[in-house]
Order: sequence, then structure tokens, then C-alpha cells
Amino acid sequence: MGVVRRFITRSPEETEVLGQFVFCRYARRYRTFLLFGEMGSGKTTFVRGFAGAAGYGNVRSPTFTMVSVYPTPSGRIHHVDLYRLEAPDALYSLGFMDMIGRDIVIVEWAENLPEDVEAVRIDLSVKGEGERVITVSLP
Ligand SMILES: Nc1ncnc2c1ncn2[C@@H]1O[C@H](COP(=O)(O)OP(=O)(O)OP(=O)(O)O)[C@@H](O)[C@H]1O
Ligand SMILES: [Mg+2]
Repeated sequence: MGVVRRFITRSPEETEVLGQFVFCRYARRYRTFLLFGEMGSGKTTFVRGFAGAAGYGNVRSPTFTMVSVYPTPSGRIHHVDLYRLEAPDALYSLGFMDMIGRDIVIVEWAENLPEDVEAVRIDLSVKGEGERVITVSLP
């Protein structure tokens, strides 16, 4: 079991700052980031900070398209949202397994991944109005 760091954020802005931190601290060494947590727990907000730190300023939820690709000076970031993944086959047709290991990939609703992927794991949970507990676990 790798290192686990636990944070509490008290606003969406603080969750963005944590996303920025995780990008700056870990995105050179690790390429795959899996986000786990219920609806509204702050996954897209976290990605907004994460991609923002790479210089990309227009993050939106890719719920309908399942994947958005953000060009950045640090290379492409694939923002994946598996909320609507119905059959695991769709993952393969998205080219998901090919992105892994090549580009930076950050995945919302990683609960729906059909297989184990080595990744930094981010668990978000709602603690109270405006408060989130977020843990970052290294592989
Ligand atoms: N500390 C916090 N961190 C992040 N978001 C917060 C926080 N406090 C309140 N919020 C609110 O919670 C919501 C989080 O929305 P966001 O789209 O980031 O969640 P999500 O986990 O991506 O949801 P979904 O499962 O629908 O994709 C926003 O409305 C945001 O304003
Ligand atoms: Mg989202």
C-alpha cells in the first residue's frame, strides 16, 4: 500500500487548489488518476484545478461524450467520465486502454472501470454543506 494523504476542502475553490497541487506534485511521475465519489462530490471541480495547473482553462463535464481531450504544454490530458458507461466494450472503442500510460488520463466515476489500472486514486466524499474529505492514494 502506497502513501495516502487526506485533505478537507471547504469550498469548490479549495478543491480546485487541491487539483492543482496534485497535478504539480504527481503528474510527472504518474500518468493515470482515478476519481471515486458520489454525484456532486467535486470530481469535475477537482479536474478543473488539475487541468488548470497544466494551463487548460475550459474544463466541463464530459458526461455525454465520455471523454474530452485537453491540449496543454505538458501534453494531452484526457478527461474521462464513466458515469454513463453501460458496457465495458465501449471503453475499448473509446481507445481508453491506449491512452493509459501514454498521456495523462483523469477519470470520473472510476467505480465503473471493468479492470484494475495502476493509478493515483482520489476518493471524494461529502462531509457537510461545502465540505469535502478528499484522499489521495499513491500506487
Ligand atoms: N468543498 C467543495 N469542493 C467541491 N465542490 C463543492 C465543495 N463544496 C460545495 N461544492 C459544490 O459541489 C458541486 C460539485 O460539483 P462537481 O460537478 O464538481 O461534482 P462531480 O463529482 O463531478 O459530480 P458528477 O458525479 O455529477 O460528475 C458544485 O456545485 C460545487 O459548487
Ligand atoms: Mg463530474
